[in-house]
Amino acid sequence: MASNQPQRGDRSVRDLEVNPLFSREPMTVPRYALPDGEMEPATAYQVVHDELMLDGNARLNLATFVTTWAEPQARRLMAECAEKNMIDKDEYPQTAELELRCVHMLARLWHAADPRRVTGCSTTGSSEAAMLAGLALKRRWQHRRRAQGRPADRPNLVMGVNVQVCWEKFADYFEVEPRYVPMEGDRYHLSPAAAVERCDENTIGVVTILGSTFDGSYEPVAEVAAALDDLRERTGLDVPIHVDGASGAMIAPFLDTHLVWDFRLPRVASINTSGHKYGLVMPGVGWVVWRDADALPDDLVFHVNYLGGRMPTFALNFSRPGAQVIAQYYNFLRLGFDGYRRVQRTCRDVATRLAAQIAALGPFELITNGGQAPVFAFRLREEITNFTVFDVSIALREHGWLVPAYTFPPNRTDLSVLRIVVRNGFSHDLADLLLEDIRRALPRLHRQHEPHRDPGDAGAFAHGIKT
Ligand SMILES: Cc1ncc(COP(=O)(O)O)c(C=O)c1O
Repeated sequence: MASNQPQRGDRSVRDLEVNPLFSREPMTVPRYALPDGEMEPATAYQVVHDELMLDGNARLNLATFVTTWAEPQARRLMAECAEKNMIDKDEYPQTAELELRCVHMLARLWHAADPRRVTGCSTTGSSEAAMLAGLALKRRWQHRRRAQGRPADRPNLVMGVNVQVCWEKFADYFEVEPRYVPMEGDRYHLSPAAAVERCDENTIGVVTILGSTFDGSYEPVAEVAAALDDLRERTGLDVPIHVDGASGAMIAPFLDTHLVWDFRLPRVASINTSGHKYGLVMPGVGWVVWRDADALPDDLVFHVNYLGGRMPTFALNFSRPGAQVIAQYYNFLRLGFDGYRRVQRTCRDVATRLAAQIAALGPFELITNGGQAPVFAFRLREEITNFTVFDVSIALREHGWLVPAYTFPPNRTDLSVLRIVVRNGFSHDLADLLLEDIRRALPRLHRQHEPHRDPGDAGAFAHGIKT
C-alpha cells in the first residue's frame, strides 16, 4: 500500500526532470499525477529504468527468502507467458494442466498416501496459501460443531509466537482467536506440550512451521502430532495440523528424508510452501495441498461459468499471472529430485560453513547453525555492551549487505539477533566476501564507547517478522 504521502516543500513533489535523454528536448513529467500527454517509449523506459537503479542489489539481500535468480530459459518462458491469466483455465487449459501436475508432484514429494486423492492449488505465495488452509480448517470445524448442535462462533488457532505475520493476518481477517505459544529460555518455537495445553473444543487446528522465519529451525511436527494423538485418546478432541513449510517443505524432502513431518502423519491435513522461496521460482507463487477431499470442504470452492466452462476456484483473488506456475513446472522438470537436492545441499553447506565462521569471529553466538532451513540467526555475546546487532546491521549496509537485525517476540524480547538467509546463488565465494566485511567492521565497532543503534532503528526488512 502506498502510504507515504508526499509532503509540500518536499523535493519529491517537484516534477521529474527528464534531462536530455538520447539528445531529446528536455522535459518534465509530474511524479504523482498522470502526465497530460504521451512520451516516446524509449524515454519512458529510460525514466523508469533510471529510477529503479536506486533499488538494492537483490543478490546482496540476505534478509529475503525469495528467489532472486533464475535461469535464462525460465525467464524466457515467463516472458512468453506474461499475458496468461491463471484463472482462465478454459482459455489456457495447458497452463491449468501444468498447475495440476505441480500439485501432484508436491503431493508425492510430501508422501500423500494416494496422490490422486489430494486437492491443491497454486497461490500468490505462502500468505495466500495460509489464508486458504486456515479457512479450510475453520470451515471443517464449523461443520463438525454444527452437526453436533454446538456453537461454532468462537474458533481459535494454536501456533508458536514465531509464526510469520501471514498467520496473524489470517486470525485477524477471518476472526479466529490466535493462541500463541510464547518462546521460553532456549526454546524459540512451538513445543508439543505447550501446543496441547492451549487446545480445546474450539481449536480449529495447530500450525507447525518447517523453517521458522525467525531462525530457520524446524518445529517438531511429529512430536506435536503425537501429543495431539494423545489428547484425542484422553479427551476425544481431534485437532488437525497444518504445516507451514514456506521454506522447509522444499528443503526437508531433499535433505532430511528421515524426518517425518508431512502427510505420512495422519494428523497433517494440509501443507503449504512458497514456490518462490526454495521452490526456486521468482515471485510470486505458492502452493497449498490438502491430504484429501475431506480436508477441503466443498462449500469453500466456487464454481464460475463466465470464462466458459464450469471452473472450480478456491482463491482470494481472481486474475493472477500464470507465468510463475509455468516457471515452477519448468524447474521441476529441469532439476528433478537430484537437481533440487544439489541446490538445497549447496545452500545448506554455505549456510552451515558461514555460520561456523561467524561463530569463530569471537563476538557472536549462534542461535541456529543453518543445518535445517539454510537460514541462521546469531546474537552478540552478553559481555559485548558497547555495540548492538543493530550497529552491526548498519555497518554491513555500508558494504551493500542487507542483514536484518530484530528482537525476538515474547517471552524473549530481551534477545536481539541478526539473521542470514542463504538462497540459491549465494555462493561460498559471496559468503567469504560477507565474512571479510564483517571482520573489517568489527575493530570500529569494538572501539565504540556505547551502542549507536537500538531496536527502534530496526528498519531493515526482515521478511514478515513483526519488529
Ligand atoms: C514460515 C513462513 N510462512 C509464511 C511466509 C509468507 O510467505 P510468502 O512471502 O510466500 O507469502 C513466510 C515468509 O517468509 C514464512 O517464512
